[in-house]
Amino acid sequence: MQKRPTAKIVALGRCVPPRVLSNADLEKLVETSDSWIVERTGIRERHIADPGVATSDLAAQAAREALSKCGTRADEIDLIIVCTVTPDMLFPSTACLVQDKIGASRAWGFDLSAACSGFVYGLSVAAQFISTGALQKVLVIGSDVMSSIVNYQDRATCVIFGDGAGAVLMEPSDDPEFGLLDFYHEIDGSGGQFLYMPGGGSLHPPSHETVDRKMHYVHQDGQAVFKYAVRKMYEASRVILARNRLTPNDIQLFIAHQANLRIVNATAERLGLDDGRVVRNIQRFGNTTAGTIPLAMADALEGGRLKKGDLVLFAAVGAGYTVGTALLRWAY
Ligand code: UT7
Repeated sequence: MQKRPTAKIVALGRCVPPRVLSNADLEKLVETSDSWIVERTGIRERHIADPGVATSDLAAQAAREALSKCGTRADEIDLIIVCTVTPDMLFPSTACLVQDKIGASRAWGFDLSAACSGFVYGLSVAAQFISTGALQKVLVIGSDVMSSIVNYQDRATCVIFGDGAGAVLMEPSDDPEFGLLDFYHEIDGSGGQFLYMPGGGSLHPPSHETVDRKMHYVHQDGQAVFKYAVRKMYEASRVILARNRLTPNDIQLFIAHQANLRIVNATAERLGLDDGRVVRNIQRFGNTTAGTIPLAMADALEGGRLKKGDLVLFAAVGAGYTVGTALLRWAY
């Protein structure tokens, strides 16, 4: 029986807005300190979009960069998946806005809402269309402007988040040993209450009251999310490794969602991964939700830490709860 093609990443682009919000800047906004933020989260600074700059702008720029790196024209793209929880607006989808901005005239597309697991979910969704032979060129974009839904009077959340985007182009791989080899995802809706934005949807449509009650901001029980993330990143990583008859020793690079340096470190430690195999860049970008994994991938690639043939383990936990893991053999 002929094996289905896998989907490989052929190019990667990113976009972070130029404006930097440092811990010292946050000290002027809320009662916090650089030392608390660094100690509890690892974050030193994050990038924040200027007013008028939206998720589709960062997404389109990241997509343009990916396309230019591999010499692909926008009108060759079949599908655009934008992973985000901060769409420009409820509709049209951000994918439609990106399609128009980059001139991907042949593409269809949609948004994927899975919070911090969004990009990993996006990779696995794109891979299905590619491995069936239905589509050849799929853009997967993780983009979030978290500053648009963060309350800069709430020190428990405003220090964590940043804005950013990353985009990958996926294509069929002739060699089934390369590209996305497997994914393992879970959701647990009972965790929805611990990280959410209550206002602005059909349950609590926008009103003076929802605004007065600050329902258009991120609400989070940090400790509950922290505990779940540490447990699930490890457990889900173990599941995907075991069912591929792999151990952490087989992994060249671990790229985890950058939610908190302590979460990344705890997971890496439980998996027995030494520092050289763990990507950490939350220090510079904070938690950019769907943006963290492609931004971390971009850093690893630029730093020469990601080479053809490397086996990469992705792991993410986010609002929902959502849990996403994937195994990918890097193809260029
Ligand atoms: O992307 C997935 C979604 N999010 C996450 O993965 C986030 C997961 N959670 C976390 O990263 C951590 O729980 C936080 C960074 C949000 C908080 O760190 P923590 O170590 O869990 O702190 P805490 O909430 O237990 O608070 C400890 C203390 C509290 O003071 P008291 O009650 O002990 O007097 C807080 O009021 O730290 C206080 N605190 C702060 N102090 C200075 C909370 N935020 C701040 C702050 N600056 N920014």
